Amino acid sequence: MPDIISVSDLVEVYADGTKAVDGISFKVNEGEFFGFLGPNGAGKSTTIKILTTLLRKTSGSVSVAGLDLDKEAKEIRKIIGVQSQETSVDPELTGRENIILLGHLQQMKGKELEERVDKLLEVVGLKDAADKRAGRYSGGMKKRLDLASTLVHKPKVLFLDEPTTGLDPQSRATVWDYLEELNKKDGITIFLTTQYLEEADRLCQRLCIIDAGKIVAEGSPVGLKKDIGADAITITVQDKKSAGDKVATKAAAKELLSKIPAVIKTVDTEEGLTIYVKNGGLFVPELVRAFDKTDIELVSINISTPSLDDVFLKHTGKRIRTEELVKEVTTGRFGSRRR
Ligand SMILES: Nc1ncnc2c1ncn2[C@@H]1O[C@H](COP(=O)(O)OP(=O)(O)O)[C@@H](O)[C@H]1O
Ligand SMILES: [Mg+2]
Repeated sequence: MPDIISVSDLVEVYADGTKAVDGISFKVNEGEFFGFLGPNGAGKSTTIKILTTLLRKTSGSVSVAGLDLDKEAKEIRKIIGVQSQETSVDPELTGRENIILLGHLQQMKGKELEERVDKLLEVVGLKDAADKRAGRYSGGMKKRLDLASTLVHKPKVLFLDEPTTGLDPQSRATVWDYLEELNKKDGITIFLTTQYLEEADRLCQRLCIIDAGKIVAEGSPVGLKKDIGADAITITVQDKKSAGDKVATKAAAKELLSKIPAVIKTVDTEEGLTIYVKNGGLFVPELVRAFDKTDIELVSINISTPSLDDVFLKHTGKRIRTEELVKEVTTGRFGSRRR
């Protein structure tokens, strides 16, 4: 398959010296559903802004559909659709008018545009609300309207920056279904960024995991999880006798685990310790016996097959921890999270 996006040694240093993208290279195949998964501040939006010609790169090379970003930015803009992280909906216009406006900007008019707008309104489930002012839409409706607007000119490549962040689960599922349809039925290549593990897992055929401006892992969700080659067991511990020093108890537990041959790796997490072993089920009795002889009590044991979060943890020593981000988005509504 030919690649439709090709990025090599891309670097972005902002005016204040922040190195938001630190030498990344990757390719996206034509027709692929490709993902960029990473926590807040990883460099996802910066990358997407560069690829969509909205931000000038510091160095590196980028081509989209065989067009060079430095020389053919205008041509690139004609064949891509972009949904940025902030919605660009005009609250004074109706949903329908918002899409028509975007169509005009793409030199579309007349019957062709009218039919296209009707179809898009239906597809994103806004047919009934089409003639209401967009300012009165819910957050989920605005996101869906934004998505419809980016699709008006039938882009070859669609760039989506966290299209479902802040959406309720039901709206999220609707958007997921629609994106899959666009990719499968219409053959549109999709480049999506997300901080949601389950979103990357469900939608993306291939993905890059990005952290602090660097790509830390790349592959299919299944392949990446398989590469871990182990189950993850998360334990919490406490001192049997006293409340004790939590940090010291954890450190002692880690020391004990390091002496057990079956343990591949132990990582400190907020909840406790995550232990990687070949076979989680078989290991639990051994784990219990090992702690029996000590002053450390096993408070909880939780076995799981690897998730993309474990992939992230393995490569960065940190968790993406989606739950907290959801909380952050919710509180952000009151204005504290704007950058
Ligand atoms: N205009 C800017 N000037 C300086 N630093 C920025 C700017 N925009 C983003 N950053 C910083 O660059 C890093 C990457 O940001 P961003 O690409 O928005 O990450 P993500 O989209 O993955 O959350 C962060 O540390 C962020 O604070
Ligand atoms: Mg972002």
